[in-house]
Amino acid sequence: MASQIRIDRMLSNLGYCTRKEAKARARDGRILNKGILVTDVSAHADPHDIVMDDEPLDHPDGIYIALNKPAGLVCSHETRDGTNVYSLLPWQWLMRNPKVSSVGRLDKDTTGLLLITDDTAFVHRMISPIHHVKKVYLVELDKHPDDSLIAQFASGTILLEKETKPCKPAGLKILGNRQCEVTLLEGKYHQIKRMFEAFGYSVTKLHRQTFGNLSVDGILEGQYVEFDPKSV
Ligand code: URA
Repeated sequence: MASQIRIDRMLSNLGYCTRKEAKARARDGRILNKGILVTDVSAHADPHDIVMDDEPLDHPDGIYIALNKPAGLVCSHETRDGTNVYSLLPWQWLMRNPKVSSVGRLDKDTTGLLLITDDTAFVHRMISPIHHVKKVYLVELDKHPDDSLIAQFASGTILLEKETKPCKPAGLKILGNRQCEVTLLEGKYHQIKRMFEAFGYSVTKLHRQTFGNLSVDGILEGQYVEFDPKSV
């Protein structure tokens, strides 16, 4: 967030209240700027200097969380698509502008690492194909994969239905009975499921283990931790 911003807009963007309510809160003496009562919410201030109801503002520099997504939740904001991952977050975060959004999406039945932020520029950087952010998935298949799939995935020639460009080379390691690890540098719709389907396999479980330098290890299912965007 810019260092100086109108106080009413700041409170509204951080999900506290509408701009009109900000005026009423100032009138009630609930807002301080550098320890001095705010009387004019159209004044500009640094969010780090504002105290509301005796508390500093929540995450004035943006929200960056790494969630271990459970199965059964969707990444869409549309509630008609089912319960979404945002239901796991504090309600005030959901009132922020820009909205908190996932960095790319995981399918409803996919588990594992999902980054969520209100930093739209960060989202665009992370999902842009030019940045090649590496994602590692653990995959369980309906039958044991043939070794020939390793070269197929690495070839950069798999053309999925309704796509105009082939998938970028992907890493495939066969781990054990029906288990493998896939590394992607992109994120097409249902990409891993469709890549295996192209060779007659079905994915029976899918879990994202890492996203860039971040890992889901140590995060309990349904829980999240904060991360430093510079570390990704
Ligand atoms: N590939 C898929 O098929 N689904 C996901 O959720 C992620 C990658």
